[in-house]
Amino acid sequence: GLMRELKGIDVMELELKNRLGIKKAIIVPGNSDESPMVKSELGKACATSMKKLLGGKNIIAVTGGSTMATVAEQLSPDLGNKELLFVPARGGIGEDVQNQANTVSSIMSKNTHSKHRVFYVPDQVSPEIYESLIKEPAIHEVLELIKSASMVLHGIGDAITMAKRRKTPPDEMKKIEGGKAVGEAFGYYFNEEGEIVHKALTIGLQLNDLTRISNVIAVAGGSSKAKAIKSYMKQAPSSTILITDEGAARMLLKG
Ligand code: F6P
Repeated sequence: GLMRELKGIDVMELELKNRLGIKKAIIVPGNSDESPMVKSELGKACATSMKKLLGGKNIIAVTGGSTMATVAEQLSPDLGNKELLFVPARGGIGEDVQNQANTVSSIMSKNTHSKHRVFYVPDQVSPEIYESLIKEPAIHEVLELIKSASMVLHGIGDAITMAKRRKTPPDEMKKIEGGKAVGEAFGYYFNEEGEIVHKALTIGLQLNDLTRISNVIAVAGGSSKAKAIKSYMKQAPSSTILITDEGAARMLLKG
């Protein structure tokens, strides 16, 4: 209504943070569903937040996706005054190369003149292979780095969009659709109540590792992601900082 129109973005940010039960919400004007420029603004806002939060030595774990790829483009060498090491948060989860966590993390390191580690593990593995892979010294070493991250940057996606984008096999698709999943982050699929209805078995950061990481920044915008953001935030650690846009924020504040 009119009252809402009259409210400034800073008021919306406070309301959103309180509704979602997180540390902070940052809203950029516009709707990234409608304009790619808004996605770049999300990236810039993420760079600004990172700058404020970085300590002397930082291990930064990052996920993939087109939003994270845009964040990577917005990082610059002034962040690299600090000691930064970028690592992918999880093994590949069916993204195109330019949107894979390994690619995002390497571009972030390049743009900030800092270091990164690659983490090449198969997409989805059987429980047996999973158990033996995590014992491999090279994999174990990167896993330790990931779990000791001081900052995590991650995307959030619409569940069905993500399941299709990953070419999820039919039996898993059934679980995701049958469980009425609406949101996805870190390979976990959530329904509107925030319950996990499916989890892709990939190696790397797990949802419960997040509580031990001081700075968690979620970047997701576009009105089409409102439901996804809401569902994931029911599971997100309360230390989460959400960077979103007006399109998503207005939808989130409606309900
Ligand atoms: O696949 C990695 C990932 O971060 C997902 O966890 C998330 O749902 C998705 O990418 C977001 O992708 P995009 O930014 O392209 O919407």
